[in-house]
Amino acid sequence: MALLPTIVTSAWSKLEQAARVLSEVLQRIRKELRPGVTTLELDALAEELIRSAGAEPAFKGYVVDGKRYPYTLCISINHEVVHGMPSAERRLQEGEIVSIDCGVRKNGYYADAAFTVGIGQISPEAEQLLRVAEEALWLGIEQATPGRRVYDIAAAIQRHVERHRYSVVRELTGHGIGRRLHEAPSVPNFVPTGSWRWRFPNERLREGQALAIEPMITAGLPEVRVAPDGWTVYTADGSLAAHFEHTVLVANPPQVLTQW
Ligand code: MF3
Ligand code: CO
Repeated sequence: MALLPTIVTSAWSKLEQAARVLSEVLQRIRKELRPGVTTLELDALAEELIRSAGAEPAFKGYVVDGKRYPYTLCISINHEVVHGMPSAERRLQEGEIVSIDCGVRKNGYYADAAFTVGIGQISPEAEQLLRVAEEALWLGIEQATPGRRVYDIAAAIQRHVERHRYSVVRELTGHGIGRRLHEAPSVPNFVPTGSWRWRFPNERLREGQALAIEPMITAGLPEVRVAPDGWTVYTADGSLAAHFEHTVLVANPPQVLTQW
C-alpha cells in the first residue's frame, strides 16, 4: 500500500504538542515586551522556556544558504521584516513595532508562529498596518480547507493587503511543516505569475496537511534587502513591515494549532 500523502493521526498530536509549547512561549514573551527590555533577554527567556518543556528551539542552528542561525527567536523591529537577530545592545522602545517569530521542535515535530505588536503607544498608521496584516493571515487561514489550492490562500492574503495599498513581500513565503521546519508546498502570499508559477506549484490542499501560513507585508513598496549581518531582512524603502504566522492543519474548518 502506498504511503498516505496526509499525515497520520498520531502525527497530529505530536504537532499539537509542539504547538502547545510554542504557544505558551509566545504568550509569555508577549508579556515581557516593554520599553527597555533587550532583545537578547527575550531570546534567553524563550530558549529556557522551550528547553524546560522538553523541546528544542527550531531556529537555533537552522541552516539557510550555508549559514547557521544562532538564536531561538527572530525579532524584527519597524522596517525589519523577518530574521532580525536578538542583541544585548538592542532595547525595545516606545512607539516601535516588533515581530516575534519562533519555532519549536518536540518529539521530532515542528511548530512555527509569529506575531507583531506595538510597544506602548504607536502611530495610527502602524496600528492599521498591524490590523491589516493580522486580518490577512486569518483570511488566508480560512482558505486552508481540503480541495482548495495553495493559490487560494495566496489570493485571499494578497487581495486584502493590496486593497489597503500595502505590499506583499515576494522573496519569502509560508510553507508546509511537520517533521521538518520547512516542507513542501511553499505558500506564497501573492498569486504567482509567469515563471513564479513553476517555482510555487498550485497544489491541492489535503486533509490533515500542516501549513505555516505567514503573510509578510510592508506599508510601502514590496522590495526587501538583507543587512550586512547576513540575516536581517528589511524594507528597501524604509517603510514599516508586519509579520503574522500560525501553524494550521488543513481541515473543514481549518484547525489553528498555535496561539499568541
Ligand atoms: N522565520 C522563518 C519562518 O517562519 C524561519 C526562520 S529560520 C531562521 O519560516 F533560521 F532564520 F531562524
Ligand atoms: Co514559518
